[in-house]
Amino acid sequence: MSILKEIQKRKTFAIISHPDAGKTTLTEKLLLYSGAIHIAGAVKSNKIKKTAASDFMEIEKQRGISVTTSVLSFEYAGYKINLLDTPGHKDFAEDTYRTLTAVDSVILVIDCVKGVEEQTEKLMGVCRMRKTPVIIFINKLDREGRNPVELLDEIEQKLDIRVRPLSWPLGIGSSFKGVYNLYKNSFAFFKPSKQTIEDDVQVFQGLNDPLLQESFGADAQKLRNDVELINGVYEEFTVEKYSSGDVAPVFFGSALNNFGVQELLNTFVEIAPSPRQRETTKGMVEPHNEHFSGFVFKIHANLDPKHRDRIAFLRVCSGKFERNTFYHHVRLDRDIKFPNPASFMAQNKSLLEEAYPGDVIGLYDSGTFAIGDTLTEGEGFMYKGIPRFSPEVFKELRNNDPFKTKQLEKGIAQLTDEGLAQLFTHNINPNRKVIGVVGELQFDVLKYRLLNEFGASCDFVPITAHKACWVQYADKSDVEELFYIRANFLYRDKNNNLVFLAESEYALRMATGKNPKAKFLFSVEHNDQTVEMETV
Ligand code: G4P
Repeated sequence: MSILKEIQKRKTFAIISHPDAGKTTLTEKLLLYSGAIHIAGAVKSNKIKKTAASDFMEIEKQRGISVTTSVLSFEYAGYKINLLDTPGHKDFAEDTYRTLTAVDSVILVIDCVKGVEEQTEKLMGVCRMRKTPVIIFINKLDREGRNPVELLDEIEQKLDIRVRPLSWPLGIGSSFKGVYNLYKNSFAFFKPSKQTIEDDVQVFQGLNDPLLQESFGADAQKLRNDVELINGVYEEFTVEKYSSGDVAPVFFGSALNNFGVQELLNTFVEIAPSPRQRETTKGMVEPHNEHFSGFVFKIHANLDPKHRDRIAFLRVCSGKFERNTFYHHVRLDRDIKFPNPASFMAQNKSLLEEAYPGDVIGLYDSGTFAIGDTLTEGEGFMYKGIPRFSPEVFKELRNNDPFKTKQLEKGIAQLTDEGLAQLFTHNINPNRKVIGVVGELQFDVLKYRLLNEFGASCDFVPITAHKACWVQYADKSDVEELFYIRANFLYRDKNNNLVFLAESEYALRMATGKNPKAKFLFSVEHNDQTVEMETV
């Protein structure tokens, strides 16, 4: 098969949601429809949850939360679908942000009872930034949820995206009858069941079809009114508007009841983009470029506690990857070959011979990779757009065992390469080290892993810090004030970039006011090509 055909076959996406909206349930149902798993009905049972590919990390099992990103690939309708799972827990949000750099589109799940929640807003912010095409699935229609029109308004306002319903529900909760497909003029009748994966669908000849009256009685008029209203209010759907990230098509359903999932999946494969060109430090690279290239967006350690290796997840962006071939590690300026690359089909990991744009490869790694690393066939460019954000929580690192200093340093270096946390070393006193994370839980994971994998015991002592800002200036005199007056708050990140750890919003305002020529950035790129996403 030609490389173009391979590219067109691939749909690489992620499902995102606020925890509990139904992401896991929907993922399992998609696997069920694709035939990748066969346990109808019991798909959400604990058994599957425990053996699911995403549940492999020790600490994850202990805590029962999905803290790592896994990859599930499956075939459906002639397409190869790569689903990049993301951790639901908000403390691992940065992991999710990075995964979003490796996908070509996203399905956003919203709970119809709760509407748009905090985590949804943050995740959509990242999608908007990258203009990622989004399909919205409004879930749990079997529950007494909010009015759909209200929900759509809330989505448009809070998520700052235009929506276009492609289906419309009749009733909700106990009165939920099903959904009307606005384009196919068909109605899928809701049957609360976890067993069946076949939707009971009736096709109508438009809204004036007498069969509609026969099927719905008094509700037929309501459905007609609703559909007319929707078609009047929302602009015509086009794949172009969806692909450019301007309009999000919306579906309604109930993942738990296998309802509306197939419709979602069928539309997804029809409209979701295949791999497209991507930005690098030397300009755009097309997926059908004959030379292989890709970047690491995730590093996962200790899948098997018996082996202490890590897996670097690489997204193929151009050309064809082949096993046992030398590729160029751009940051290290070194050529490396991979005898055992892994692919991920459904829940199984297997040896991979070749991979194409859109695919995600697992590369066994003993510390050569860091997030954002690029592999090429010899060219020197790096992929752009893999962000590093200011952490939310900061604590000072205290070594509990001076005899294990080296182990602690090694552990911190590796875990920060993985993107689990960020290290800030004081600009004047390098013994003062601050660790920044998105959520408290990451400190527990760090402590656990430092002890278990590196034999290093440490504590994290709370400090007062509001944000980390990467400071950029053309001339050092632009930030003299910072170096003299605020020297105590100046740190270096892993790549020796200057970082101002602002104590409070006020301190940040003061510093920016006094150093007007400097740029204070809340995010930089992993490969240090500074991006100005959110300056103060
Ligand atoms: P998440 O990955 O987004 O965190 O959500 P998850 O799929 O785990 O779903 C969260 C809860 O919502 C689960 O219930 C799940 O069964 C339920 N759920 C998912 N889809 C639907 C739906 O369409 N209708 C209804 N009524 N519930 C739905 P749980 O009680 O937390 O877990 P479990 O005991 O069912 O495993």
